[in-house]
Amino acid sequence: MNPPEPGGQAGSVSPPVRPADDQLSLAARVRLLTGSDSWRTGAAPELGLRQMTTSDGPSGARGVSLDENAPSTCLPCPSAIGATWDPDLVERVARELGTEARSKGIDILLAPTINLMRTPLGGRGFECFSEDPLLTGQIGAAYVRGVQAAGVAATVKHFIGNDSETERWTYDARIAPGVLREVYLWPFEVCVRDAGTALVMASYNKVNGVPMTEHRGLLTEILRDEWGFTGVVISDWSAARSTVPTATGGLDLVMPGPDGPWGDLLVRAVEAGAVSEALVDDKVARLLRLADRVGARTRTPAATGTGAARQAGSDGSPRTGRAEGPRYIGQDLLRAVTAASFVLLRNQSGVLPLDPGSIGRLALIGPNAVRPSIQGGGSVTVRPARVRMPAESLTDLAEATTGFAVTVAQGCRNELAVPLPPTGSLHDPVTGEPGVRIEFRGPGGDLLAAEHASTSSGLWWDGTPDQIGWGRPGTLTLLARFRAEASGEHTISAAGVGDLAIAIDGHEIAAGRTPVPDDPVQSMVAPPDLQVTADLTAGSQITVTITLRPASDGAGPLAIRLGIASAQDDDALLAEAERAAAAADVAVVVVGSPEMGETEGMDRATLALPGRQDELVARVAAACQRTIVVVNAGMPVLMPWLDQVSAVLWAWLPGQEFGAALADVLAGRAEPGGRLPVTLPADEASCPVLHAIPDDGVLRYDEGALVGYRGYDAAEIAPAFPFGHGLGYTRWTYDGLRLPPGLAAGQDLVVEVDVTNAGARSGREVVQAYVEPPAGGPGRPVRVLGGFASAEADPGKRVTVGVRIPARVFARWDETAGQWAWQPGQYRIRVGSSSRVLPLTAAVTSGPAEPSPA
Ligand code: BGC
Repeated sequence: MNPPEPGGQAGSVSPPVRPADDQLSLAARVRLLTGSDSWRTGAAPELGLRQMTTSDGPSGARGVSLDENAPSTCLPCPSAIGATWDPDLVERVARELGTEARSKGIDILLAPTINLMRTPLGGRGFECFSEDPLLTGQIGAAYVRGVQAAGVAATVKHFIGNDSETERWTYDARIAPGVLREVYLWPFEVCVRDAGTALVMASYNKVNGVPMTEHRGLLTEILRDEWGFTGVVISDWSAARSTVPTATGGLDLVMPGPDGPWGDLLVRAVEAGAVSEALVDDKVARLLRLADRVGARTRTPAATGTGAARQAGSDGSPRTGRAEGPRYIGQDLLRAVTAASFVLLRNQSGVLPLDPGSIGRLALIGPNAVRPSIQGGGSVTVRPARVRMPAESLTDLAEATTGFAVTVAQGCRNELAVPLPPTGSLHDPVTGEPGVRIEFRGPGGDLLAAEHASTSSGLWWDGTPDQIGWGRPGTLTLLARFRAEASGEHTISAAGVGDLAIAIDGHEIAAGRTPVPDDPVQSMVAPPDLQVTADLTAGSQITVTITLRPASDGAGPLAIRLGIASAQDDDALLAEAERAAAAADVAVVVVGSPEMGETEGMDRATLALPGRQDELVARVAAACQRTIVVVNAGMPVLMPWLDQVSAVLWAWLPGQEFGAALADVLAGRAEPGGRLPVTLPADEASCPVLHAIPDDGVLRYDEGALVGYRGYDAAEIAPAFPFGHGLGYTRWTYDGLRLPPGLAAGQDLVVEVDVTNAGARSGREVVQAYVEPPAGGPGRPVRVLGGFASAEADPGKRVTVGVRIPARVFARWDETAGQWAWQPGQYRIRVGSSSRVLPLTAAVTSGPAEPSPA
């Protein structure tokens, strides 16, 4: 099969490009193979090549900074995107995302993440689409197509075995060849072969003993030679840690730069004959082909006034880009995809959608009602211009309908770190504006630069004065005037990696050194802190100054953060919530992950909701008969109160339109369209794979192919809710299943399914087809997802949908022969609304056959 090139403007197929070794010296060609800074590739004016700008993804297009003057649309997190089970919708959204990226001068989006949710505790699980490889591959391919249709190159990551965060830089994932092929490699293969992704990112970890940035077997033999990948293999940031093995293994581009293991060392390796010059030229040719795809040899990026664009001219090349501003993703589409991702898990007596006429008072309760987690932590983070909060949107709903009253109660605390002070409580002591002042000072205290920021959490990859950085003598200072809202003890937290000091009203009251975390990204997502307490009276003001001299051995982005919290009494918060619930007709309780509760760089330790959230739900449910729980989490949490509440709506980490989509769904203006892309466990003990803690640096994938629901099915474990579950707002009957008479070797199987909307409103059903193979045996799945399709119908109407099951589902990787083997015999095709509700069954027989279906 010939791999298609990326589609649309990014996909124009370029002829094989010669790097013009007569135009560029070896050193200059090698220089192109390492980034020129944190986010950009190098330029070569001799070749008409400008720098190319990369940006994280996948939940937005952040640009090269978290500059608040250059905001980015914040999409629902990828697990929410996976929950749509709707590749067409995902492609539309991704195309809009690509357009936003393009309008900000971004050439390469570092997304999507197509690792699998191997364990529910995986800190970065929210950044994956599913626990299932077929669903991941189809959603991932749609995402790649959409982004690339907008003229931006997509990067599928992290290749491969980066399915958890503990020791992610070093662990050795031991994965059997058949499991790699059938489970973990498959989504990458689909994104390479079917969607033509322009880049693949090599991960930090090792696989079967070899670092992924050096893995010739995977990067060269499988990715290039077998799948025909013609794009660029880019390293994860600082993942390339050797010269010759990475160069000969199959890596093309080392990021970030300008330093790194290639440069002069690679030139010398070529001169010494350890790396062939032809290999260098192949890497340059791949880079130039990428440049042609994104127009980096023919046009300049848009100049938009964003952080990305402002810094885009540092190669000295002229920038004549368009003057129009960024093109953000349309709000209506964003709101629609957010609602389409919400999964209705439980809906006793049809309590949802709510009838506003039946509500006099609605109590909105919970720590995540007040402070929702709209996105996960780490490189995925973006700064949206505006977030629609639940209270605001429910109040709008009340005003637009019957005028019911909305009361808000926090209910309890759930934060892991001292929270950022409430908006409006901080002011810049110099300008008086809301927010804080950041100062960059030299070793002698001389002021080098200063800026205003609206939040007390600052982050820099580049762009600080030369004297400020890891191992440099200068300091970062954050100053803020804080006005206390409540009387009593307040905790003040100064976070950052290095030497920290806290001063109040000019008097230093604490100083100390914080440790350097194991993973550089932790400096940003969970910086260690220094804490002091202060007794304040409501309305009083203090000036807080925190000073950080970054550690000499730190790495990653520089971060400084001021947190301030008044000592809140959980007992009082719980009692207040109970009173609010008792006085209301409906209680909507929003619980879930706190800020940075789910993040890159760290796995979670437990599936339990943090703080006293379980107690909160139980007490509210006892006080209010109509209690609706909204779970604001990107990955599974336990729900011990499940049977006590009327409805449960899973909202993921929903992005900036959270409130608007929530109001739409609660009021029935939109259907909660999602289906679970991950199994929700009943408890920790019954999770087939709970932790991913390496043992002496080794992480064994001992469950083999039994990932996610496959493990639950094989061991006959009952989850809280199975993979694929989701109720929507109508009911469906499954009426008929038709299969072709036989299954030809190497062919897809297309089955027809009749379903009827047996409810009272129009809706969408996700029809799921599972395949039960003839010969099971130890370690083999009972059934696997073979395909899915959307059915949409008005009440009472029957529709027929076709579900395509790819040939690969009927093959196994023969480890001895090292090739795909078609499995003859009788397959049961089972169709229904989840992996555990499968009312339709039919059999199809396949004879033994050549050739292999790969
Ligand atoms: C992450 C990547 C990300 C890169 C750049 C790494 O720590 O693993 O997903 O693209 O940083 O931010």
